[in-house]
Amino acid sequence: MRLVLAGFGVVGQSFARLLMEEEKELAVNYGLVSQVVGIMDHSGWLVDEHGIDIKKALRSKKETGRVSSKGSKSAPSRSMDVIRDLEAEVLVEATPTNFKTGEPGFSHMKAAFESRKHVVTCNKGPLSLAYYALHELARHNGVQLRFSGAVGGGTPVLDFGKTCSLGDELVGIRGILNGTCNYILTRMEEEEVAFDEALDGAKKAGYAEADPSLDIDGYDSAVKLVITANHLLLSKAGINDVKIQGIRGISLKDVMQRKKERKAVRLIASVSKETGLSVKPTVIERSHPLCIRGANNAVEFECKYSGPKVIIGKGAGGPETATSLLRDLLEIRGKINSPTAALEAYELSGGRAA
Ligand SMILES: NC(=O)c1ccc[n+]([C@@H]2O[C@H](COP(=O)([O-])OP(=O)(O)OC[C@H]3O[C@@H](n4cnc5c(N)ncnc54)[C@H](OP(=O)(O)O)[C@@H]3O)[C@@H](O)[C@H]2O)c1
Repeated sequence: MRLVLAGFGVVGQSFARLLMEEEKELAVNYGLVSQVVGIMDHSGWLVDEHGIDIKKALRSKKETGRVSSKGSKSAPSRSMDVIRDLEAEVLVEATPTNFKTGEPGFSHMKAAFESRKHVVTCNKGPLSLAYYALHELARHNGVQLRFSGAVGGGTPVLDFGKTCSLGDELVGIRGILNGTCNYILTRMEEEEVAFDEALDGAKKAGYAEADPSLDIDGYDSAVKLVITANHLLLSKAGINDVKIQGIRGISLKDVMQRKKERKAVRLIASVSKETGLSVKPTVIERSHPLCIRGANNAVEFECKYSGPKVIIGKGAGGPETATSLLRDLLEIRGKINSPTAALEAYELSGGRAA
């Protein structure tokens, strides 16, 4: 399977490393033999139709900060042509999330679909702005769009939710979708430090951006909620449908008072038919499964017949999110090859159905 990789930062490099390190297991256990034929970063493209030496590309990125050789910079507008023209089956899109325009990810995905390539992505921007349009474009061109890393990083929140809804009906979803906010709130209650000091700690630990407003003002949680609601409840929601309140106004006094009551404040994103979509600081019992500590995510799926189910795990990180990209890739490979694989298994078993 030939892959094009757009974005070679924390996640893109982790994904390339994972492909390289697990090469044998992927071939033996899943029949996945992959070749990366194009890699793009700010500097332009590295292209080799016979397969890029990933070890060399990672070393070059580390030493020079770029994948392309000097002087070979291709303009961003050329990127769509490169994506269209390269002989490949899948685009792995891991460029930065732009919450306002979805670019450059949106145009990359469009170019991939138009040239009949599947897309695997963890980029929230295009999905939150054009969820249904992107799916329609993929369907029209007979290819797949997969994005399990866009919510929960390496924790398969969306896949788990889909499984919960099979044979039952999902009536509501609520949870912690932003690890940075959870880290800040946990530090406030455990170390008794004020909001600003806890935020500084989150920056030093590498959880928060230099401008952390997208996290602490609830926007990142809201975008993930929109993707989750559209994917699992067919909500047709946009970011303007979410009532958003972040954690900026929470005082140490509030947090300590709740602690005394054996409760805690958490930034909870929730969606149901009755209440609509919201992100807001919420007081929960300390014994509740959603009351997790540190930079983790936790999501509760309320099912009509079988009740609530909770998934908990790390919500971000390069190697973690790379596993979601790989999971999506394996799903695509499974779908493409399933009739052949089933036939091969059938023939190998001497004609007995497995
Ligand atoms: N990091 C996580 O834990 C995590 C978890 C879940 C989802 N995500 C999502 O995954 C995506 C990638 O995240 P990341 O942490 O890997 O970001 P990152 O480290 O900033 O990497 C982004 C990569 O995209 C390249 N790039 C930026 N603008 C570009 C453009 N216009 N054209 C071509 N390439 C461009 C950058 O090039 P240079 O290297 O030359 O700067 C870099 O290689 C984001 O959408 C993020 O929201 C990340």
